[in-house]
Formats: sequence, C-alpha cells, structure tokens
Amino acid sequence: MARRRAAEGKGAEAKPGAKLWGGAFAAATHPAVEAFTDSTRYEDRLVPHDIAGSLAHAGMLGRAGVLSRAEARRLAEGLGRVRREWETGSFRLDPAFEDVHGNVEARLRDLVGPLAGKLHSGRSRNDQVALDERLLLRELEGRLRGALVEAAGAWLDFGERHRDLVLPGYTHLQRAQPVLFGHWALAWVEMWLRDLTRLGWVRDALDECPLGAAALAGSPLPLDRAGVARELGFSRLTENSLDAVSNRDYLVDFAYALAMVMQHLSRLGEEVVLYCTQEFGFLRLGDAVATGSSLMPQKRNPDVAELLRGRSGRAYGLLVHLLTLLKGQPLAYNRDAQEDKELFFSTYDLVLHCVRIVPVLASHLEPDPERMRRACHEGFLEATDAADYLVGKGVPFREAHEAVGKAVRECVRRGCALPTLPLEAWREAHPAFGADLFGRLKLEAVVAARAGFGATAPKRVREAFARARQRLRRAAGG
Ligand code: ARG
Repeated sequence: MARRRAAEGKGAEAKPGAKLWGGAFAAATHPAVEAFTDSTRYEDRLVPHDIAGSLAHAGMLGRAGVLSRAEARRLAEGLGRVRREWETGSFRLDPAFEDVHGNVEARLRDLVGPLAGKLHSGRSRNDQVALDERLLLRELEGRLRGALVEAAGAWLDFGERHRDLVLPGYTHLQRAQPVLFGHWALAWVEMWLRDLTRLGWVRDALDECPLGAAALAGSPLPLDRAGVARELGFSRLTENSLDAVSNRDYLVDFAYALAMVMQHLSRLGEEVVLYCTQEFGFLRLGDAVATGSSLMPQKRNPDVAELLRGRSGRAYGLLVHLLTLLKGQPLAYNRDAQEDKELFFSTYDLVLHCVRIVPVLASHLEPDPERMRRACHEGFLEATDAADYLVGKGVPFREAHEAVGKAVRECVRRGCALPTLPLEAWREAHPAFGADLFGRLKLEAVVAARAGFGATAPKRVREAFARARQRLRRAAGG
C-alpha cells in the first residue's frame, strides 16, 4: 500500500517525519523527488545484512559504554524481532522511509520507542551501506562459487563418461588435429577453475570492515572497530575513512568476475550450438533441453546454449556501468553510489541462473562418436604427425612440412586420405618415408603421441581428470 503510495508520489504527505534527516527542513520533500530517489524497490536482499550490521554495532556501543548495557540489550532484542518479522514476511520495506536503513530503524522505533534513535550513534548510512553490501556480496560470492563448482563437476562427469572418444580439434574453425573428448571437456573446466580463482580475489577484496568510517571522517565516539569486524567475520578494517565510504571497487571486481563467467558460458554456448548443427553433428541435445519450432516440425533448436551466448552482454553492461558510475565521483560518498545495486543484483541473478543450467545441459548432451571419428578422417588431421615422423628420421621440420604438404596435395588430386596414400606416393614426397609411417597415422596413435603435460594423450587426460577433481574440491572451499 505504502509502496504504491510513494510510486504515485504521495509518500511525503502520507508519512510526515519519516525521514532520518528532517530536522533542518521546514517543508516536506516533493513527492516526485521522493519517488525519484527511492531505493527500497531493490533493497530487499540487504535487509538481513543491515540488521546483522546493526546488531553488531549496537552490541559494540554497549560494550564501549556509549550506550548502557541495558539499552544495548533492548536494541538487540528489538532488532531480533525486526529480523523475525522480515523472515515471516510481516515487515516490508516502505518507500516512505527512503531506504533499507531508514526502514529498519523506523520499524525498530515502532518496537522499542525513542531508544531506537541511539542505534545510529557513531554511524552513518554511508559506512552502513558499504558494510551491508560487503556482507551481502560475501554471501552472493559463496552462492556463485557453489554453483560454479557444481557446473564444473557436472561437466567433468560428462567429459569423463565419454573421455576416450576422439573428435577433431580446431584452429581458425578449420579441422586441425584430433583430440580426446575428455580433453575438450577439460578445457571448459579450466575456465571455470579460473572463474573460481577470480571469485577468490573478490572475496579478498570484500574482506574489510568499513564500519566506523561513519559519514566520511570517522567518529569521535570510542568505537571498537576491530571488535565489530571480528564479530561480522572480517579479517581486516578499511584503512581510510574517506576511501571506505566511497570505495565500490569490490563491486567492479565482482562484476569483472561475472563478466568472465559469462564470457566462458557464451563461448560454451557457441560451441554447443555449432556441435549440434547438422553440419558438425558431434553432439545431440536430449528432448528435455532442446526446443522446437512453431512452424517447422523437424526443428531441434539449442535455445539454452543460445541464451548462454546471448546473455553475456548483460554482464559486460554491468561492468561498464559500474566503471562509469565511479569514474567522475569526487571523494567521499555521493548519491551516485546508490546506482551500484539494481543492475548488479539483476545481473548477478541472471549469471547464477546461467551457471545453474550447465549441469542440466551436461546431463542431456550426447556425443555422436561416429560423426566425430569420421570428421577426424576428413581434412588430413594426421599431417602434422607425418611431418613429425620425418623429424624423427632427422629431417629438418621445414623440409618435412614441405614434403607432407606435397603428400596432402597428392591426396587431394587422388581423392584419398593420408593413411590411404600408397607408400610410393609418400616416397615421392620424401625418400625418408617408410612403411612404419602408417602405424603413426592411426587416430589413436596420433592422439597418444601427444603425451606431454597438458596434452591430449589418454594417459595425460586420465591424470588431468583426477587433478581437476582435486583442484575443484580445493576451489569449493575457497
Ligand atoms: N541508499 C543509499 C545508497 O545506496 C544509502 C546511503 C545513503 N546515504 C546518504 N547520505 N544519502 O548509497
């Protein structure tokens, strides 16, 4: 009701004196301004953190002697009730109280009376909102971390199920050399492991408690900053009060991490789209994750993968938005900062949703071993190995490259493949070729030959799966 009132611009008349700062003002805020500056619309998720921060602050004020122990206890009880009311849905944010901070304090006043006015001693909404954000983002980081670990785990399962299948690897989207399916799957897991590393950096950036910076310069009250920080699970204090209330770098860090997650998911989406085409046909989408056409009965569309690709722009938009938001701001707090939330929250939700679809996709994608094998036999994917064979016979690589190039040309002329080109023709290209060449050109041999660390030989890929699972377990813990 109140929400609608303010949206219609009638909040000011409806709740005189609702402001946290009305003292010096003779006239009410213009209703249009009230609606314009409102942030309650997207602050729901800050409520539990705002209350947690206030509980820690109130307790500290009691211990520091700024409030009596009894006052601190009554504030804590009141805040506890506000929290329960929030959890049961009876307390809702009202735009008439401007923001989440005004709302919690107003509700506290309803419950404990004028004592509520003492809660804000030594605190400003400027350090309060910085704290709330850090607390919330810490939680969001953990949730995204969990989702990424699950996605990577599901992808590992998928890759390991089909580990030893062989498919063409590409450069320039031209068939290049055969690789194991497991190797291909692990490449995506590497990206998610890096995403998890990036989230670790975000977590570290978040790990500073700003409370005590107050509006911009700190507080004359004997605040125990370290005690509050400890209670709220921070390992460091912000070092400079001006920076503490104006810093939103941690959001940019987080936005960058989100953008990178989406970059990877977008690339994955593109790869799935390609591999599900009739032209490639390496993967097939199960019914549960494919979509149809309202007009063409035969269609089997990869909408999920396309949306992964298509949604990346939203995350990039957030990053640009936040960088732009910050670039022109003088020290310290400015109301511009309020614009850091809405787009961040909606983008975070979207990214989380995208990450959470990956396990679903992974369990409904089926490789087509025959198609992948056949593709490995067209396009002379063994050419590098024929050259390496000559290198083994002491031929300089450049000369070997040239010779195999000739053999490829001969294959094109005859309409055959490298393994079916007769030995005489190979000898024509270079006299060092012998009959043992053909064993080296078998697909399995080509793959097995790449046995260096990080390469695609089956033995290496098996080890890489084991290591990836270990690394993922470590990343899950942070
Ligand atoms: N809604 C504000 C924000 O998100 C809270 C801090 C307001 N501080 C102030 N001095 N107006 O940034």
